[in-house]
Amino acid sequence: MATTLMLNASPAWAQSPAARPLQELAAQRGLLIGAAAAPRPLLDDQRYAAVLAREFSIVTPENALKWPWVQPDPGRFTWQDADAIVHFAVAHGQKVRAHTALWHLAVPAWIVDGRYDTVALQSIVQQHMRAVAQRYAGQLTYWDVVNEAVADDGRLRDTLWLRKLGRDYIAQAFTWAHQAAPNVKLVYNDYGAEEPNAKSDAIYALVRSLKARRVPIAAVGFQMHLGPRRLDPQKLYANFQRFARLGVELHVTEMDLPLGKLEGTPEQRLAEQARRIRAVIDVCLAVPAVKVIQFWGVDDNHSWLNREKQQSPLLFDTRYQPKPAYWAVAEALTRHHAAADDPEAGN
Ligand code: G3I
Repeated sequence: MATTLMLNASPAWAQSPAARPLQELAAQRGLLIGAAAAPRPLLDDQRYAAVLAREFSIVTPENALKWPWVQPDPGRFTWQDADAIVHFAVAHGQKVRAHTALWHLAVPAWIVDGRYDTVALQSIVQQHMRAVAQRYAGQLTYWDVVNEAVADDGRLRDTLWLRKLGRDYIAQAFTWAHQAAPNVKLVYNDYGAEEPNAKSDAIYALVRSLKARRVPIAAVGFQMHLGPRRLDPQKLYANFQRFARLGVELHVTEMDLPLGKLEGTPEQRLAEQARRIRAVIDVCLAVPAVKVIQFWGVDDNHSWLNREKQQSPLLFDTRYQPKPAYWAVAEALTRHHAAADDPEAGN
């Protein structure tokens, strides 16, 4: 079993930079706030572990529960990376989002090349889901069951799952996941659907139809990988509102915002990043159906976007120092809390 790092000591760098950690501020607004995590820095770098434990109340294994990590060969399950993250989260009282069961990426070669027929693949998927559910019984709160199944034009994405399992595979996947893990809230997760557009219209129609058929879907995840174009808060709000009316929770699952082509001095770019992230948080706080806000990583050094240097897309810099975006999130959560207590405050 992987070592679970417990954090008892509170060296100076482990003190909360805000008066109170983000997770406390978020809890007062009825929100979970979280990050994706990777096993290496978690086990090797106490600073990473300290920030994750202190600031966040929900953790997604960034890769460790993807198919190639869990079942790299048929029937051979490998859990050490996922165990490290899930055990850490549980030991620190954090919730866990499993990510992800059916995605067109991160499919192991044995499935891609396997020439399984529909019935055989159905059974493989169900077995895989049962294995994940059993391994982490009682430890998962959410599960991104289907990831990125809709294309930008609104059609179902042409994936191995669609081709081999058939057009109803999304409903089937939720049903199988529910059978395997009846107490876990199941999520459809996608990117580029934050504003009303062809893709979000299609996801909306998909979720509406799943709900109408009583398929056990509990939440829609909006990944929120923010690009150079500024997201329109009005459009985000309108989109969130229509999804909320379907009776699902709304989650921000993978937020990050690379500095990319933002203009100005380094300080100005960081300030613009903070403003844009703040705008998203403000919309989230205005929509009660939003229950979870997660960033796609803890610190800039371990972001998937850091493969290109200096994209600096997260709340903490490469030395685990809080950035302007961190303060913007803390302030948004605090201000809204004050406003909730006292209608005069926050005006
Ligand atoms: O762990 C291996 C390592 O052993 C090997 O030496 C190295 C060589 O390339 O690869 C390492 O694995 C990489 C892994 O990240 C860990 O760093 C994979 O090649 C790489 O493909 C993988 O990328 C991940 C990507 O999904 C594909 O699974 C990113 O970290 C992860 O941030 C990204 O996350 C996705 C979400 O799951 C879904 N939404 C979009 C998001 C960003 O693309």
